[in-house]
Amino acid sequence: MLLKSIPLFFLVHYSLAKTPICTNGFTLVNGRCLRYFPNARNHRAAENSCFSYDATLVTVKNSIDNRAVSTFVGNAASSIWMGLFCFNMDVTNCLWDDGNGTAQGYNNFMNGSPQIESGKCVYISLMGSSSGRWYSGNCDLDSRPFVCELPITFEDDCSNNYNGFCYSYNPPASFVRAQQNCENQCGSIVSILSPNENRYVGALFPRYESNDMIIGATWTTKDTYSWFDGSPWNFNQINPASPKKNCLAMVTSLNDASASGSWYPIVCYSAYGYLCKRPAGVQCPQYPPVTVTPAPSNPSGCNSTIMSFGTITSPNFPMNYNNITSCNYLLTTLGSYNVMLKFNKFYTDMKNDFVTLYDGDSTKSPVIAKYSGYYEWPFFNVSTGNSMLVTFRSNSTFGYYGFTAIASSYVHHD
Ligand SMILES: *[C@@H]1O[C@H](CO)[C@@H](O)[C@H](O)[C@H]1NC(C)=O
Ligand SMILES: *[C@@H]1O[C@H](CO)[C@@H](O)[C@H](O)[C@H]1NC(C)=O
Ligand SMILES: *[C@@H]1O[C@H](CO)[C@@H](O)[C@H](O)[C@H]1NC(C)=O
Ligand SMILES: *[C@@H]1O[C@H](CO)[C@@H](O)[C@H](O)[C@H]1NC(C)=O
Ligand SMILES: *[C@@H]1O[C@H](CO)[C@@H](O)[C@H](O)[C@H]1NC(C)=O
Repeated sequence: MLLKSIPLFFLVHYSLAKTPICTNGFTLVNGRCLRYFPNARNHRAAENSCFSYDATLVTVKNSIDNRAVSTFVGNAASSIWMGLFCFNMDVTNCLWDDGNGTAQGYNNFMNGSPQIESGKCVYISLMGSSSGRWYSGNCDLDSRPFVCELPITFEDDCSNNYNGFCYSYNPPASFVRAQQNCENQCGSIVSILSPNENRYVGALFPRYESNDMIIGATWTTKDTYSWFDGSPWNFNQINPASPKKNCLAMVTSLNDASASGSWYPIVCYSAYGYLCKRPAGVQCPQYPPVTVTPAPSNPSGCNSTIMSFGTITSPNFPMNYNNITSCNYLLTTLGSYNVMLKFNKFYTDMKNDFVTLYDGDSTKSPVIAKYSGYYEWPFFNVSTGNSMLVTFRSNSTFGYYGFTAIASSYVHHD
């Protein structure tokens, strides 16, 4: 699956001062984007209106937010819906629309509320002395004005700018080619880190294509999936009964509406459409990209310095390496980036032949990891700085094909 010659790669260049903005006519209020909709609607219709702007009904997680929302609407309404739904009178059973927790952390219910005889939806009163207090209301029968909420993002002329990232559609490709193409655009195949992002991405993709989409996660030896862009794996929509495969797709096609938004394993070489995701307000560099074409006499990269993006292999790969081999590979990237090394194939003598990753440019640097034996699935590791020394030492009498790995720059999204 590896490409023989490595295309040009650009690294993300954080030269622009990022300007926080709100899209879709929303207003920046206390660190997020709000928009007031004066026409009274029932709760579901209000939700749908927000959704048409990629937004949710407003959530209120602390007293500062509560005051900010009340002040934002001011005298324009006597109450507004918010994005909270209570299953019973216990606030720990009131769930926020953003999928992130319950009203247990903070609430401002009027004494005696939530009162689900009145309804399971929640509104904020903006009237007189009860202003800022929360009440239960009938989701279907009550109509109220409402406020929608969007995360802030950064100024960028991309067309799909959400929560600090730009999302762009690309036609079907296998995982490796898709990832390379996204890295050309200073991004990575989309990672999905919250219910809101899942909803956003799930609504965006069908505007371009009617099939399912591949997403930016791969199976690792740690017995879990992980995001290729390095984001933490703490949200997923995978059906637990599904078989393990190396890549993931998301149901976005309309012919399976019931499963829409869920994820399922696929083999990485199948071609799917995809979204690239990159930080908003960031430019790809103007300077020429670094080209890494290993000299034909040394296609493995053994004993050379590789500016990522690049490929390294054990000598002679995919044929067996020699019984005694000693190779150093110094992987580097630009100053503020880390090196991610992803092994796609790995087979060495478990007892004698080791690949060692150092967190720096010499064998005196701390060891990140030491690998030997057989790995069924691709796996990766990252440096904490902009260089990683990889050594391969073999001392066995048996035939093993060794390894092939891709070094790339690792972009933190924090
Ligand atoms: C969810 O809530 C936690 C704690 O309130 C917060 O730290 C985190 O950023 C939230 N996540 C999202 C995706 O909003
Ligand atoms: C790499 O360098 C080491 C140390 O100089 C040397 O022993 C080894 O033979 C070299 N490997 C190759 C494949 O040239
Ligand atoms: C890198 O390797 C170390 C040692 O095996 C492991 O603890 C760590 O989780 C790995 N990191 C990643 C990102 O896989
Ligand atoms: C290779 O392994 C053999 C047997 O385990 C050991 O005697 C020998 O010293 C090793 N050689 C090197 C260069 O590590
Ligand atoms: C390594 O291979 C060479 C020839 O390929 C052979 O002569 C030599 O005995 C082998 N070394 C060991 C330790 O098996």
